[in-house]
Amino acid sequence: MAQQFQNFIGGKWVPPTTGKYLENRNPANWEEVLGAFPQSGPDDVNQAVQAARKAYDGWRLTPAPKRAEIVFEAGEILKRNKEELARQMTQEMGKILAETRGDVQEAIDCAYFAAGEGRRLLGDTTPCELPNKLGMSFRMPVGVAALITPWNFPMAIPSWKTFPALVAGNTVVLKPATDTPWSALNFVKALEEAGVPPGVVNFITGGGSTVGQPLAEHSSVNVVSFTGSSDVGKVLGSTCGSKLKRLSLELGGKNAQIVMEDADLDLALEGVLWGAFGTTGQRCTATSRLILHKDIAKSFTDRLVAAARGLKVGNGLEPGSQMGPCVNERQRKSVHEYVEIGKKEGAKLLTGGNMLTEGALGAGWFYEPTIFGDVKAGMRIEQEEIFGPVLSIVTVGSFEEAIQVLNGTPFGLSSSIYTRDVNRAMRAIRDIEAGITYINGPTIGAEVQLPFGGVKETGNGHREGGPTVIDAFTEWKSVYIDYSGRLQKAQIDR
Ligand code: UN1
Repeated sequence: MAQQFQNFIGGKWVPPTTGKYLENRNPANWEEVLGAFPQSGPDDVNQAVQAARKAYDGWRLTPAPKRAEIVFEAGEILKRNKEELARQMTQEMGKILAETRGDVQEAIDCAYFAAGEGRRLLGDTTPCELPNKLGMSFRMPVGVAALITPWNFPMAIPSWKTFPALVAGNTVVLKPATDTPWSALNFVKALEEAGVPPGVVNFITGGGSTVGQPLAEHSSVNVVSFTGSSDVGKVLGSTCGSKLKRLSLELGGKNAQIVMEDADLDLALEGVLWGAFGTTGQRCTATSRLILHKDIAKSFTDRLVAAARGLKVGNGLEPGSQMGPCVNERQRKSVHEYVEIGKKEGAKLLTGGNMLTEGALGAGWFYEPTIFGDVKAGMRIEQEEIFGPVLSIVTVGSFEEAIQVLNGTPFGLSSSIYTRDVNRAMRAIRDIEAGITYINGPTIGAEVQLPFGGVKETGNGHREGGPTVIDAFTEWKSVYIDYSGRLQKAQIDR
């Protein structure tokens, strides 16, 4: 019988009111059950939100530097336990150990970064137009924050929402993806151990329709932050829009790496391999398109295909594995469907395109690193987010065409250009429609101290990460202090 894990509500680990649990399995070895996690329902949501609401005043009135100290301590705890947490995350989510170490590290980085904000949370002071009067603005917490997080960064993404939300004075209900509740629970345990007061952080596991949606709809939730698919983002957009509730969205991507004919091609090759096949392509920032200048297209493609064939696919805990499995059967099926679509659209399958079912790999959801050539702008495999190890190569004749193809999707998260020409690099920075642009680096690898997010259908204008994350989790209060001792009328007394 698998170990049973519980929800965390009001400072206590409690079973779900539904009495139902969902098994959590290893995507590299589906027979292996890692635990049973609550399949919570709307009553659990309600209890968690009430607990967060009850804790709100106490937390809001705790000085921000003190709130930040708890967040910092949680970072210290994650740091101490990094190796074990990374191993558990690889078992739960599949990505290789080096990457799960990176995921935990990103959470540690977030803790330190957010904790620093506890002694800033800066507002403005400004002169007033009338004498003996002062104007200033403060950041206020928003209230109860509902945080709905995906499976591809099972600890980093909960951390980059939770830590700043807490430092800013909000209380939190965290609902992780059903595929990765364990890592999120480990994250919450670090906060518990760090001394977060009861009700300030609540954690409930379960599905999108039974937990996520009721959570977003709950009248005592004041801000919703979601990272995941654009389809779910649109549903949350209308839910929150109809209630005029604040919503921060970080959604899909169809990120491209451009390689110009003047680029350092060895560097560009290493970059695209990492960007496309790191995390099995399951990042919102993954490189899913490669835009090659025609002069180098043939030779670069040949080298890339050979390198992709050489990647070692395997269990992420095994030394030497370079790419783990897809997170679940549904995800692998969807990847394979896109491969079929690509073939029908007339793209040329250069390598991969198969599920890996032989030997030890047969126990999990492994898929070959896959590359399509002869991809034309506008094909579905060039437009839609696949979220798997599939790369589409488009050949272009000029820098201008490269930028046009890169910008030609509904998304705008990450982007990259390899060139040695500084003028081209500067024009790319200016003309690429994306929230993130890398020069001579792959599309993945954002650091926590810079704004993270995208334009167009990638989001709704918010940026989590960087100092801008504080904007998602605070309201502005403007204050006028009149020390003239008389009624002064703005705009009228001149
Ligand atoms: C995501 O893909 O959902 O920039 C997040 C990166 C990571 C975060 C990715 N630091 O690739």
